[in-house]
Amino acid sequence: MNPVSQTFNPIATSRGADVIARCQSLARYSEDPAALRRTFLSPPMRECHNAITEWLKPLAVVPSIDGAGNLRAVYPAASPDAPRLLIGSHLDTVPNAGAFDGPLGILLAVALLEQLEGQRLPFAIELVAFSEEEGIRFATPFIGSCALVGNYDEEFLNRRDGNGISIRQAIQNFGLDPAQLPAAQMSEDVLAYLEFHIEQGPVLENLNLPLAAVEAIVGQSRLAITFIGHSNHAGTTPMNARRDALAAAAEWMVAVESEASRIAGLVATVGSIQAHPGATNVIPGEVRLTLDVRHKSDQIRAQSVQRLSTMAQHIAAKRALSANFATFLNQPAVAMDPFLISQIELAIRAAGCPPHRMPSGAGHDAMILASRVPAAMIFVRSPGGISHDPTESVLLEDVACAIDCGSHLLKQLADSPEFLKRTPRG
Ligand code: HGY
Ligand code: MN
Ligand code: MN
Repeated sequence: MNPVSQTFNPIATSRGADVIARCQSLARYSEDPAALRRTFLSPPMRECHNAITEWLKPLAVVPSIDGAGNLRAVYPAASPDAPRLLIGSHLDTVPNAGAFDGPLGILLAVALLEQLEGQRLPFAIELVAFSEEEGIRFATPFIGSCALVGNYDEEFLNRRDGNGISIRQAIQNFGLDPAQLPAAQMSEDVLAYLEFHIEQGPVLENLNLPLAAVEAIVGQSRLAITFIGHSNHAGTTPMNARRDALAAAAEWMVAVESEASRIAGLVATVGSIQAHPGATNVIPGEVRLTLDVRHKSDQIRAQSVQRLSTMAQHIAAKRALSANFATFLNQPAVAMDPFLISQIELAIRAAGCPPHRMPSGAGHDAMILASRVPAAMIFVRSPGGISHDPTESVLLEDVACAIDCGSHLLKQLADSPEFLKRTPRG
């Protein structure tokens, strides 16, 4: 289904085909032979760094890897003391991932540098390929972008993965030096951060639009919940004498779904569950679940998390169990920069498409960078609204449109006294 009134641009289309092919080639670098899984500083990350380094060679841009494992590459400005614009996204993936969540934003940035064909702008462009955004290996999202804004501490670096390896050790195991983390902070001369990303939802497809400007990123809470009962024999324990942690978890999960369905704009997900000891003939004595709650209002999100926690305590108590919680993310909603949103809408129109602005239900590195610099995102349609799945895809004409839009945007910003006179750091 072709999007409305996109102007066909043969160069952008050819570059768009390269972007898609490159995303698909990065998708071969995985920890899992049967599906795409690439977590914080796992070995396949190095193969991605090497591939991006090759693609940057014709631009005479030599990337470096910072103390958090982010790939950083600077395309110089017309003058050496010019400020810079950051453009990037993340290289890590969820398990069983698609090829475009993250890498599309990185390879679109490379395509925009290629599209400049050697032209120098009044600002440098720093490409950032973040080492970790999804929060899979350490249950801690945004490790890469937190390093750029200096948002980490000893407790953060000591968080451990399922094998007991800390973030600090993972950095060392990859051959990097945690002592270099302070040097990973973004430079003082950053004017803004831009991120292209797949929408990961159905909105643009339903509107038959290729692109949108993101107006805000919803806030998100991520928690671990444990129901504690008592294991027992599945055959000899009467139903009224059980302290079944999995039955309690099941009752609570239904309550989570009905709570989220009841409140407009709220989404709540139990994404993983582990029953212990996990044998057919043993009543589970302990169950660990994860909870992901999101809403554009931080107050509504906090109230819902509180209500769901109270429900868990109530269900546990009536079944003579206990329930405990650990919050490992409480990320407020973040508005994108109004000036950049308006510039993006102009650029979408210049690319021959009707502009559209929308909130993001997915979290992104832009919400971390926004704590230090004006940040903005451009969404690219997700066919079928699918993401976090191998069938995640993009349309060539939409990627070409994104390149066209991005080229117009860079030109607009280069010609904008309002943008250039901004004091770096917003
Ligand atoms: O979970 C998210 O919102 C994103 O994919 N990291
Ligand atoms: Mn993403
Ligand atoms: Mn994702």
